[in-house]
Amino acid sequence: MTQRIIPITSANFIADRDLDTPLDWTAIFGNTHPLALEIGCGTGHFILEQALKHPEINFVAIDIYNKGCLKTCAKIDDAGIQNVRVMRVEARWLMERGLQTESLAAVYINCPDPWPKKRHRRRRLVNRDFMTSLAHYLVPGGDFFFSTDFDDYAEDVAEQIRNLIGYRNMLQSDWEHALTGYPISKYMQRFLDRGQPIYFIHHQRDQVVSRQELPALTVHRGFRIDWQKAEND
Ligand SMILES: C[S@@+](CC[C@H](N)C(=O)[O-])C[C@H]1O[C@@H](n2cnc3c(N)ncnc32)[C@H](O)[C@@H]1O
Repeated sequence: MTQRIIPITSANFIADRDLDTPLDWTAIFGNTHPLALEIGCGTGHFILEQALKHPEINFVAIDIYNKGCLKTCAKIDDAGIQNVRVMRVEARWLMERGLQTESLAAVYINCPDPWPKKRHRRRRLVNRDFMTSLAHYLVPGGDFFFSTDFDDYAEDVAEQIRNLIGYRNMLQSDWEHALTGYPISKYMQRFLDRGQPIYFIHHQRDQVVSRQELPALTVHRGFRIDWQKAEND
């Protein structure tokens, strides 16, 4: 069944997804504060709390899900905060078209679709290629946070990132089951309510590794999702 795409009129929504040149975040936010990105913001629980805690940071919350963007905008508008913008855009598309390299002070990915079936695992967003690219978009010392309820996804990300040049583990172990001060997203809460643990991973882009020393950036030219299909999947 085809879902109706509801137009989003919020002033905090960046509607244009035909990105040809990196976005001018200084002009968009009217300041030069550090930029942080949440990928797959869902309905905006995490970003609202994080943005309220950190007015000194500009946040971009993205999702490919129209209703999620709509609900996230409603939360931000109701809270009357100025440091969040929402985009309906695919993560790799935004990174490659809308962001400068070394421009992100933090990236948050909470409970991404786990694709639990073995034959679907290659569809996971966070894989070796993605983390390789991401290192180029993080500023030196920039944070990468990943959370999942799915042990196999946590193991996979932990193993891949451990072997990648350019990241530094900020935890004592591969993951922890709680991170002080880190907001709980809607999906995290759902799993916690069922008694399931969340696996939190926290790395930083290593400051001593220059961008030239990172594994080459994988460019996914021609990569574009089918918007209507994505909405109905
Ligand atoms: C399982 S939900 C989790 C939502 C939220 N992060 C939370 O923890 O409550 C995953 C979200 O990621 C979005 N998503 C999946 N792949 C994406 C991609 N490649 N780029 C942007 N968003 C994506 C989905 O539309 C969905 O809203």
